[in-house]
Amino acid sequence: MYYSDEIVEEVRAKSDIVAVISGYVNLKKKGSNHWGCCPFHNEKTPSFAVSENKQMYHCFGCGESGSVITFLMKYENYSFPEAIRALADRAGIKLPEIEYSEEQKRRAGRRQRLLDVNKDAATFFYYQLRKNPHGEVGLAYFRKRELTEETMKKFGLGFAGKNGNELVQYLRQKGYHDEEIRDAGVATFSERGGLSSQFWNRVMFPIQDVNHRVIGFGGRVMGDGEPKYLNSPETDIFDKRRNLYGLNYARTARAGNVILCEGYMDVIAMHQAGFGQAVASLGTAFTPEQAHLLHRYTEQVLLAYDSDGAGVKAALRAIGILRNEGLTAKVINMRPHKDPDEFMKALGREAFQERIDQAENSFFYEIRMLESGFNLKDPEEKTKFHREIAAKLCTFEEEVERDNYLQAIAEKYYIGVDQLRKLVISYAGAGVGKTAPRPKSGVQSKSGTQDGAKRAQKLLITWIADYPRIYPKIKPYVSSKDFTEELYAQVAERMFAAIEKDKFQPAEIISTFEDEETQKEAAELFYEELPAMETTQEKEQALHDVIYLVKKNSFEHFKQKQAERDIEAIAQVMEAKKALLSLSKLHISLD
Ligand code: CTP
Ligand code: MN
Repeated sequence: MYYSDEIVEEVRAKSDIVAVISGYVNLKKKGSNHWGCCPFHNEKTPSFAVSENKQMYHCFGCGESGSVITFLMKYENYSFPEAIRALADRAGIKLPEIEYSEEQKRRAGRRQRLLDVNKDAATFFYYQLRKNPHGEVGLAYFRKRELTEETMKKFGLGFAGKNGNELVQYLRQKGYHDEEIRDAGVATFSERGGLSSQFWNRVMFPIQDVNHRVIGFGGRVMGDGEPKYLNSPETDIFDKRRNLYGLNYARTARAGNVILCEGYMDVIAMHQAGFGQAVASLGTAFTPEQAHLLHRYTEQVLLAYDSDGAGVKAALRAIGILRNEGLTAKVINMRPHKDPDEFMKALGREAFQERIDQAENSFFYEIRMLESGFNLKDPEEKTKFHREIAAKLCTFEEEVERDNYLQAIAEKYYIGVDQLRKLVISYAGAGVGKTAPRPKSGVQSKSGTQDGAKRAQKLLITWIADYPRIYPKIKPYVSSKDFTEELYAQVAERMFAAIEKDKFQPAEIISTFEDEETQKEAAELFYEELPAMETTQEKEQALHDVIYLVKKNSFEHFKQKQAERDIEAIAQVMEAKKALLSLSKLHISLD
């Protein structure tokens, strides 16, 4: 934290969220909220709510939420201290000179150093491509792949020559220590050769985070060497699971969708052709973290994976991940070409736009791929195919949605609707898929108990935030330790402390977290949707169930730790056991 908690809170408290956001979004008061069109996703009817009481905003369309600080960080692309400075300016608060603790200085300093090494390495590669005679190979390569000068500049493309020492010398000259050069991921150390460049004889693709900072590289070999692509290793600044190539540009493309490709060249070719919304995962399979990241910018992802067997497999995996994240997915058919890069070269942008318009619904795609594994002329295989369809249909939680798909699939594959429906019902009854009715508490795991426990913890935080007066009643049974998700535990701890002091304000807690993603996740905890309930009795029952689930999960968590010989867990297990027993007989009233 650059500024003290007190200063941050003073700035936040003096920056009325409605006034600040009104400067960016046209807001209208309705009920207890002010409403407008969400600036973070495309929409025509307002689902973006700003609450004066909570001093928070929340979009019911895209799920963005946070405090006034989060808003500026997101909208203006500010860092935390930048947002604080902007708000302080606005409110006429004079900020103290920044004071860093030794540890903070060390850590912030080190990250900055690693970023600097990467930036300087990118500059080095960039000039190698243009100024060094050896770089001509690289330049010729990019030209052969039909990249324009402008595109090469935009993506900062470069070249690593055959001499692995030049980069190291250049960086040493710039004043970096050997460990910094190594820890930044651009060079490796060996007993024999000392420090030498991680990359040589490759064209270089700098990988940037959403704020355009270079955090690593991908390098493609010239000729047929192995591996074809070599990437920076994971470092303190390069987390492959949480970054996407091209997202620094795609995030502002506002095309209504994001196109997910497999490779660097695909992204670049797409951007050059005017599809600025293209991104790629970084030499690893697409991850849930990346899906979550994409959800900040879009509701719909179009898959443009390779049309070969590996590409189909990767697409099917990605579809599952996107669906879990609540994003809609469609699949772009690239045939007869292998990938977007080759497609673009062969058929051009209009043809690609047509393919976008014709992109196939991901469920139909899944079924079509499933079909190719069966010989439908054989009655037995045909039956198996129908069974698999029924099992897949069971995964839709919402009945209307499931039935719409059921009808469409039945028609497409010439299966009797009633027959298929019967099959689905018999499967659903057997518990295939996720069709169990939601209990009143609102805790129904989307995919297993892990998520159920998480959701219970979220719900409990929302409950207490909405009804702080119940905190003293449940305090003997629940503490922040019972929140097994680290962030939730931190939020709970700060919330409980604030309630005790009788100065609880959700926005204040959110602004104690520094990075935008964490703020958003923390904010979501206060906006978990409580299930619709009519009577007080229903509500009290639901609350009771949630507390019980949280405690039960905590009990199991600590029991596991105890089994792993964690001595401190023993006391926790005993406490949880006792609390569960009392809870089962307890009635908590909402008054
Ligand atoms: N990739 C990787 N390591 C490899 C091969 C591939 O990290 N050994 C990643 C790279 O990000 C690459 C993507 O997977 O961009 C797609 O690989 P592939 O389809 O083999 O490459 P193309 O993008 O078609 O590469 P090119 O057109 O340059 O041959
Ligand atoms: Mn290719």
